[in-house]
Amino acid sequence: MTGRPWLSIILAAGLGTRMKSALPKVMHAVAGRPMVGHAAASAVDAGAERLAVVVGPDMQGVAASLRHLHKPAAFFVQTERLGTAHAVLAAREAVAGFQGDVVIQYGDTPLLRAQTLKRLRAALDGGAGLAVLGFEAENPFGYGRLILDETGGLAAIREEKDASQAERAIRLCNSGVMALRAEIMLPVLEQIANANAKGEYYLTDAVEIARRQRIGVAVEVCAEEEVLGVNDRVQLAAAERVMQQRLRHAAMEGGATLIAPETVTFAFDTRLGRDVIVEPNVFFGPGVTVEDDVHIKANCHLEGARVARGAVIGPFARLRPGADIGQDVRIGNFVEVKQATVEAGAKINHLAYVGDARVGAKANIGAGTIVCNYDGFNKHFTEIGTGAFIGSNSALVAPVKVGDGAFIGTGSVITRDIEANALALERSELRQMPGWAARFRARHGK
Ligand code: UD1
Ligand code: CA
Repeated sequence: MTGRPWLSIILAAGLGTRMKSALPKVMHAVAGRPMVGHAAASAVDAGAERLAVVVGPDMQGVAASLRHLHKPAAFFVQTERLGTAHAVLAAREAVAGFQGDVVIQYGDTPLLRAQTLKRLRAALDGGAGLAVLGFEAENPFGYGRLILDETGGLAAIREEKDASQAERAIRLCNSGVMALRAEIMLPVLEQIANANAKGEYYLTDAVEIARRQRIGVAVEVCAEEEVLGVNDRVQLAAAERVMQQRLRHAAMEGGATLIAPETVTFAFDTRLGRDVIVEPNVFFGPGVTVEDDVHIKANCHLEGARVARGAVIGPFARLRPGADIGQDVRIGNFVEVKQATVEAGAKINHLAYVGDARVGAKANIGAGTIVCNYDGFNKHFTEIGTGAFIGSNSALVAPVKVGDGAFIGTGSVITRDIEANALALERSELRQMPGWAARFRARHGK
């Protein structure tokens, strides 16, 4: 590793017409994160200190999606799409005066690994001024081909439309990822013209120009899978499949048991502790942390939630953002928890909704309990004390507080605070009319 600073330029101005979407292509998510976020994150993981993102007009959302990376990202708008070299030059300001290495990536290539980017940049340490990331394509159609000279060095990159019959037979292709020393970059890119089949400024022409200027050119090769570009929703699903495989592997390597891995869907940032067991058909949205020894039974949906050690979740449970599930808690079937802290040892075992609430340690929430947190305008908070017992089918109308150790009788609607250790019952008197049913039947001739 050299100490040279690293700037990554991410090209994301593409319209993505084939996605048939109102959303810019690079904003479509893979494992719960926009593709451009994956590209930027691998750059940052590889060591990029700075990011420059080239977007099209009306793509403000892209900036917001990269905020969490905590690296300075500059945004440049390419108003007209005149080719990949033109796109890179839209970020000219980021390069001018920058001393170090520049790596150019695409925002629609979410599977590229940080270690591959590192390897590409390291090629510049060997004296090259420009390094291209290539791959052996199963089917090279549509890609730029890497044309090698007699010594095996990279002589040029030829785009499909400009290639001869013989060149089209080459399977070694351009991934689009390129590393350049900043000092040679602008002088080379500024010489690129658009005299080609598409009338575009091709970044790939940088290779021939560099060679003419006796700048060393290197090639690194990676797996085709890593440079899978997404142009439509079928390719989006293909990228998702690969990403999910990686995430499942990582989860299992980290000490989690996935009973049917292919049925579990992870987010890019799902964190599972050791000896976590995940049963089939579990979906993790972004922002979930699961500590050691948790058992997630089949068919659960979790997002933005934390689950502490030893808890048992599901089957068929839903943990929504802000669910903070304490140690050894039981969350059973058809239970939904949102923006609520459930403290250690509490049980919410069946058919309940708990939102905007605190459930104290060892409290027991009966089947069918609903926290009525919303009055149609505002959300209100409910506090359930330590060791409280909420009888089945109760409604707690927030804002309300049930004191420590209090009992709520089954079927109650609780609209006022209940003091600690009290019994609260809100139910009309039971009436019983002996013999009524028999008389009723007799009247109807049965
Ligand atoms: C490009 C490469 C090709 C390579 C292939 C890999 C060139 C000339 N060709 O071809 O060698 O095999 O990628 O997938 O570089 N973009 C902009 N603004 C533009 C043009 C493109 O931001 O004006 C962005 C696109 O959003 C996309 C990327 O650059 O993310 C590549 O552009 P695209 O038009 O798809 O290039 P290809 O023809 O596929
Ligand atoms: Ca493309």
